[in-house]
Amino acid sequence: MKPIKVGMLGLGTVGTGVVRIVEGHQEDLVRQIGTAVEISRILVNDVTKNRSISIPQERLTEKVEDILHDPDIDVIVEVMGGLEPTKGYVMEALAQGKHIVTANKDLLALYGTEIMAQAHEYKRDVMYEASVAGGIPIIRTLTEGFSSDRILKIMGIVNGTTNYILSAMSREGAAYADVLKEAQGLGYAEADPTSDVEGLDAARKMTILSRLGFHVNVELSDVSVKGISSVTREDIAYGKTLGYEVKLLGIAERTGDGVSVSVEPTMVRLNHPLASVSGVFNAVYVFGESVGETMFYGPGAGELPTATSIVADLVTVAKNLRLDVNGSQLPLRYQEKKLRSPEQIVSKYFLLLRVADRAGVLARITQIFADYKVSLESVFQHPNASTSHAEIIVITHNATKAGMQQVLEEFGKLDVVHEIRSVYRVEG
Ligand code: NAP
Ligand code: HSE
Repeated sequence: MKPIKVGMLGLGTVGTGVVRIVEGHQEDLVRQIGTAVEISRILVNDVTKNRSISIPQERLTEKVEDILHDPDIDVIVEVMGGLEPTKGYVMEALAQGKHIVTANKDLLALYGTEIMAQAHEYKRDVMYEASVAGGIPIIRTLTEGFSSDRILKIMGIVNGTTNYILSAMSREGAAYADVLKEAQGLGYAEADPTSDVEGLDAARKMTILSRLGFHVNVELSDVSVKGISSVTREDIAYGKTLGYEVKLLGIAERTGDGVSVSVEPTMVRLNHPLASVSGVFNAVYVFGESVGETMFYGPGAGELPTATSIVADLVTVAKNLRLDVNGSQLPLRYQEKKLRSPEQIVSKYFLLLRVADRAGVLARITQIFADYKVSLESVFQHPNASTSHAEIIVITHNATKAGMQQVLEEFGKLDVVHEIRSVYRVEG
């Protein structure tokens, strides 16, 4: 039986892992597929670059046509990243009759609908397990495992780089910039790490997960995004004292009012399973109407974990090829999109305020919370000996996002509030 021929776009962190797994697990792959998998050609920027694996020079190319127009290539593994020229290559590959396996969440979050329509037209497979949460099979879980349920909430630590940074800041009090460099060295970060630290990478992943979980065509622009660059070691330390860990959480919720999706640094109660997910590990918590609470945990980035998901997708495409059932997935039919308004989004909040250290200040602050119907769970005051201000930490009961925005606006006008130091959503 002739081998399944794979053309690969990119041979960086993930691409190298794919070669290692395909070569190292060949016997197991043959046992599952019934034929060999052969990576026959690989597109790179620079064929002369030193690589950490040995690849015969003739297998590398700088010309994409060598792959897209090779009639022997069945499947294309896209691990070069970015939007252009990648999108053009993927669309052309589908038109040329190739199946696609990709780790590219940027592409799927922005052009997923267009790419799926092209795949449907040409009856080709497009698989993207590696695009969210690296080695955790969360796409299959949502589309197959939970196809019977009505998913109401998806909460995820879906960016390995930021979780690595926050964990090191929490554990060792490490400095943000140093840990980011470490994460880049380990191959976790995106080519432009701003998309990791500013929450955009997580937002792209949450866009994909909420589409699959809620069957609503959530766009990237529907996601409210805040990254971790404003998180301080002081916030983390205060959080710990009060029983919270700071995590960059993607939170997608569905209620009778509609859906909401956000990515923001969040104070997670220490007894919630997401609080103990550290380092490059990711976890996705899924709450289904029938199944209740579930959580999926594993490495969220890096060479071999990510490549594991890519090769699993390759196995699926290869099995489909053997059975001649490629492109037979039904297109997802979305329901009408209704986005929840700030009046409908409810959560607890953690606030750190720097205020004048004198009589009556606390009363003025609590009055503003009362004016906007935000009730308080606890208030702590921390005197600061070196300056004229005190630090007040407030944890609210459930409040609307709109109510909290009004409270913060009022604090901005109050002379006794010197600084709204930090505001976090609270979960768990
Ligand atoms: P990477 O290490 O930067 O590798 C990119 C590869 O693509 C390199 O081999 C590069 O060639 C090649 N390339 C880039 N642009 C090209 C172009 N225009 N023409 C030809 N070749 C080009 O990236 P990566 O970390 O492996 O990530 C790849 C994809 O996987 C991205 O979409 C990323 O978001 C996703 N992803 C990554 C991880 C992770 O942990 N790293 C996890 C999940 C998903 P040269 O080698 O010659 O420079
Ligand atoms: N930069 C991404 C992360 C890679 O750190 O999670 C995995 O998608």
